[in-house]
Amino acid sequence: KQYKVAVVGATGAVGEVMLSILAERKFPVGELVALASARSAGDTVVFNNREVEVQDLAKFDPTGVDIALFSAGGSISKEYAPKFAAAGAVVIDNSSAFRYDDDVPLVVSEVNPEAAATRPRGIIANPNCSTMQMLVALAPIHRAVGIERINVATYQSVSGAGRSALEELGRQTGALLNFQGIEPERFPVQIAFNVIPHIDEFMDNGFTKEEMKLIWETKKILGDDSILVNPTAVRVPVFYGHSEAVNIETRDKITPEEARKLLEATPGVEVVDERKPGGYPTPVTHASGNDAVYVGRIRDDLSHPRGLNLWIVSDNIRKGAALNAVQIAELVAAGR
Ligand code: A2P
Repeated sequence: KQYKVAVVGATGAVGEVMLSILAERKFPVGELVALASARSAGDTVVFNNREVEVQDLAKFDPTGVDIALFSAGGSISKEYAPKFAAAGAVVIDNSSAFRYDDDVPLVVSEVNPEAAATRPRGIIANPNCSTMQMLVALAPIHRAVGIERINVATYQSVSGAGRSALEELGRQTGALLNFQGIEPERFPVQIAFNVIPHIDEFMDNGFTKEEMKLIWETKKILGDDSILVNPTAVRVPVFYGHSEAVNIETRDKITPEEARKLLEATPGVEVVDERKPGGYPTPVTHASGNDAVYVGRIRDDLSHPRGLNLWIVSDNIRKGAALNAVQIAELVAAGR
């Protein structure tokens, strides 16, 4: 079967990569529809070495669309995803609009692919990028020895905030190197040569919503409400690739050697863990532009008998967003 596939937000940082990954993985696309705002209507995007004209989402009739990949923000998803689903499409939504609804599955393709099959509203949610890469690495450990608690600090690249954020980091960096002043626009304070402990909005409990996503989504994807997560989410001046310093406390002891062996056999994971300069993954040397979740710095927690430390790095736009969305589309196409 060939599918009529719509990409909503096709001109964005994630949408652009959705198009290239659909082509790269030879997803059976019969017709590709590129949708964005009225501002981009008439522009072109590239799919499979061909130019495709961008259409205005607000004027588009979804009848006949088989699969719709949404990455245009939560409010666009809230308004249009139900319309596409009502017209018969399976919607794979990269926003947080539906992630916490009980009747919408939240799927990491390597972790809980079976959940994609039950989608009463015709919508499948793609998890937050930070949760995605963390769980690709932690799910096999959870299955083997039970994870009771996760302590995580993230180091998140600006691409997670979209194209305008990539441009702001570039602009500020250039300006500051030329001894010019900068005016923060997309980020609340200067992002170039800085780190910002604030992603998404603040909640009443003092956490940011980005941090709460790590708590909520981990429980839902692993199907385990008892798992405790203590997150701090930080934006860093990196273009592509999120890093995470992760500490876990497990029910049964797992040694670094056992964890390394388990992760080496885990689909989607690459272990890069040599104890020497450069023998660890970074966004620039490993993750950016690649598909795997890279894990290094695997070592005991000297402060806890059942603690383990890991460093987890992945391209947030690929595995953290576009790649997983296309992998969900592959599950749908395979009838799973
Ligand atoms: P456009 O380029 O026309 O603004 P990013 O996350 O990189 O900022 O990208 C956001 C994506 O969502 C872009 O493709 C953007 O299209 C799209 N988008 C934003 N607002 C709307 C809207 N009102 N209707 C449709 N698409 C939208």
